[in-house]
Amino acid sequence: MSKVIVTGGLGFIGSNIVDLLIETGYEVAIVDNLSTGSKKNMNRKAKFYQKDICNADLLNVFKKEKPEYVVHEAAQINVRKSFSDPVFDAGVNVVGSVNLLECCRKTGVEKIVYASSGGAIYGEPEHIPADEKHAIRPLSPYGASKYTVEKYLSIYKKNYGIDYVSLRYANVYGPRQDPLGEAGVISIFINKLLGKISPIIYGDGEQTRDFVYVKDVARANLKALETSTPGTEYNIGTGVETSVNKLFEKIKEATGSSENAFHGKAASGEVRRISLDIRLAGKELGWKPETALDAGLKETVEWFRKRA
Ligand SMILES: NC(=O)c1ccc[n+]([C@@H]2O[C@H](COP(=O)([O-])OP(=O)(O)OC[C@H]3O[C@@H](n4cnc5c(N)ncnc54)[C@H](O)[C@@H]3O)[C@@H](O)[C@H]2O)c1
Repeated sequence: MSKVIVTGGLGFIGSNIVDLLIETGYEVAIVDNLSTGSKKNMNRKAKFYQKDICNADLLNVFKKEKPEYVVHEAAQINVRKSFSDPVFDAGVNVVGSVNLLECCRKTGVEKIVYASSGGAIYGEPEHIPADEKHAIRPLSPYGASKYTVEKYLSIYKKNYGIDYVSLRYANVYGPRQDPLGEAGVISIFINKLLGKISPIIYGDGEQTRDFVYVKDVARANLKALETSTPGTEYNIGTGVETSVNKLFEKIKEATGSSENAFHGKAASGEVRRISLDIRLAGKELGWKPETALDAGLKETVEWFRKRA
């Protein structure tokens, strides 16, 4: 049975990936510092190391576990925080990732699957949907940090033969997303509406996003791990643009709420419109999303209801 280390495996996306890997028959060890992750997300069949990816003794985990694969989800994910504390953002996202890469190099890891961000690295797209060849123009330190790691991955592949796939996620949503965090408009709206509170829509609400369901993202990670691909960067989204206003209406319907939203000041460092061209992932990874937004919202609302 192949072994995988999943960094950030107690977080929203990471824990969904861990569940799928274990269900598929992989042995999984989680590395997470619990900064935003939760033990509630822990799969009992996984091993858990409470460790920071920036810490030098991460190497001991790698020496002990000797994983064939690494799925790297751990990160500082808050765009606003990347502006208020860019040193911390780069410390975790860039230096922490290089520390991880060094562990992979020293212990002979074969392949890394990395969580990049299609929403944060292309900037305001010149064409929609944005494909992988779109110019890279991040608008935030967070976006710059996510892209920088792709460059390190290519250097480690070229020099040390460590294979990798970078998955450039769109806006991921679904069960376990933290509604108290800054990312995750869907979980924030659902949580507020179920609590009978009017949420805030930043700006006029006509900004668009590409919302992809977390279980589809977990499947993309499995495909990336198991498929020998000609390329290394793949967009993971739906190709569908949805405005925040439209999204709010859909969530209102899914929750049966009668609350209305307030409009607040537009957030900085965020694009006006985005959706990702996912044809390359279809062709080379054999992946496409299977959950339509309405169905995914329904499952997510059910999960939040049960949790409450
Ligand atoms: N959620 C999205 O829409 C989205 C979009 C694009 C890319 N991503 C990327 O996907 C990945 C997962 O994001 P998420 O939404 O699940 O966020 P999350 O905050 O739920 O998960 C991140 C996990 O990493 C852990 N972590 C953070 N810093 C760490 C450190 N220094 N050492 C060890 N563990 C650490 C956290 O405790 C948490 O469990 C991130 O790399 C993020 O940049 C997410």
